[in-house]
Amino acid sequence: MEFIWEAPTEAETIAFANALAQLVGPGTVLAVDGDLGAGKTRFAQAFAAAIGVPGIVNSPTYTIIKEYVGRALPFYHMDVYRLSLAEADELGLDEYFHGEGVTLVEWASIIQQILPLERLHIRIETTGPVSRKIICSPVGQKYEEWCRQLERKQLEHVTRRNRQHESKHK
Ligand SMILES: Nc1ncnc2c1ncn2[C@@H]1O[C@H](COP(=O)(O)OP(=O)(O)O)[C@@H](O)[C@H]1O
Ligand SMILES: [Mg+2]
Repeated sequence: MEFIWEAPTEAETIAFANALAQLVGPGTVLAVDGDLGAGKTRFAQAFAAAIGVPGIVNSPTYTIIKEYVGRALPFYHMDVYRLSLAEADELGLDEYFHGEGVTLVEWASIIQQILPLERLHIRIETTGPVSRKIICSPVGQKYEEWCRQLERKQLEHVTRRNRQHESKHK
């Protein structure tokens, strides 16, 4: 089951990150893809804030991996854009996937072969200057269930947003 979150503005990408952050636990793997400038890092920043990482989360393009301390879990932020599959393998990136924290990988498709069996693919597509389509593809039962929960959260979010919109224009 594929799940799509339409984000007509950056605030809606942040809302998606907030919804997703409610589901994560140790060993969560978020495999993020999307063209340059799609919003992978922006999404990672919103997600980090949502799980209580204090301070600034920057793009780890040159450092490959950065570790942060969240409210309840460590956060591992990777950007494998500059790596080959062999290099990623040598670096032992796969150890993070089975660690105590949440891993978010930008350009995850590059290291598809070393991703754990179960993961949530998140593809961000640019559909306009500030609009994005966020496509989630779960692999494994746990992430399939997450997508069903995200669907409910999306409905709640859209209902809440519409109500706020209505009360503003009364
Ligand atoms: N709906 C949106 N979702 C995410 N980012 C957005 C959105 N609209 C505009 N942006 C902007 O697009 C840029 C995305 O940059 P970045 O996250 O670094 O991309 P990537 O990591 O995918 O290369 C940021 O400047 C962000 O403010
Ligand atoms: Mg980036």
